[in-house]
Amino acid sequence: MDMRKIIIDTDPGQDDAIAIMLALAAPGLDVLGVVSVAGNVSVQHTTTNACKVLELAGRTDIAVHAGCAGPLRRTPVTAAHVHGQTGMDGPTLPDPVMRPRAQHGVDFLIDTIRAHPPGSITVVTLGPMTNLAMALVKAPDIAQRMAGIVSMGGAWAQGGNITPSAEFNVYADPDAADIVLRHAAVPHTLVPLDVTHRFLVTPPRMAQLGALKGRCARAAAEMLGFSGRFDLAKYGWAGAPLHDPCTIGWLLAPTCLRAAG
Ligand code: RIB
Ligand code: CA
Repeated sequence: MDMRKIIIDTDPGQDDAIAIMLALAAPGLDVLGVVSVAGNVSVQHTTTNACKVLELAGRTDIAVHAGCAGPLRRTPVTAAHVHGQTGMDGPTLPDPVMRPRAQHGVDFLIDTIRAHPPGSITVVTLGPMTNLAMALVKAPDIAQRMAGIVSMGGAWAQGGNITPSAEFNVYADPDAADIVLRHAAVPHTLVPLDVTHRFLVTPPRMAQLGALKGRCARAAAEMLGFSGRFDLAKYGWAGAPLHDPCTIGWLLAPTCLRAAG
């Protein structure tokens, strides 16, 4: 089977964690590395959470590289009101033993994209696009070398989730989103709230998840139970939207999103 090589840029985040676990379990995806970014919570927390998820999944062979500690220009905002102070409240996971690598996440993006044949790496952004924007400014040549970008971000007709019109990932670093989206040379798939709000972890789905054995399923259920509180209070939904996992879903089965949009 042809494996699609991806780099996941992320701000875990319960839904980020589910997306990472889904990518690790997907037979056709080869996760080359995980780059953390400030977003839902500080980059210190998102880096620790990325390590926790990889340890939970038994994949400490995959490197974590800490990325940017804040947005390019605007005043930092977080989504701790959704994800909790740690950014991944819900399950009690042990402090990670694995450490992030010394190389900065922006340089990992640049070096890894340059080290692979053109058109072989897809970058998946699950948080503010700060790292990818910095990488494109520092090394514009990578734009021609990426196979594509898939991002959870934006809102069309759906309205926002951090302001009445803004979706969090773009709102948290709009300048980075502008830089990345202006690189039209790179095929870029945006998965907005209009799609992700159609993929809710409803009570029957939570029951199915809860019935699964294994530590990943148990942690996933606890994560979604925690983050779903926000959507219940804000929208009255009985179930958290699977924002970030929709990017992996698109990679695995693009048509599953077309019907939702
Ligand atoms: O708006 C949803 C996005 O913001 C998701 O990536 C979620 O993890 C939060 O970062
Ligand atoms: Ca995220």
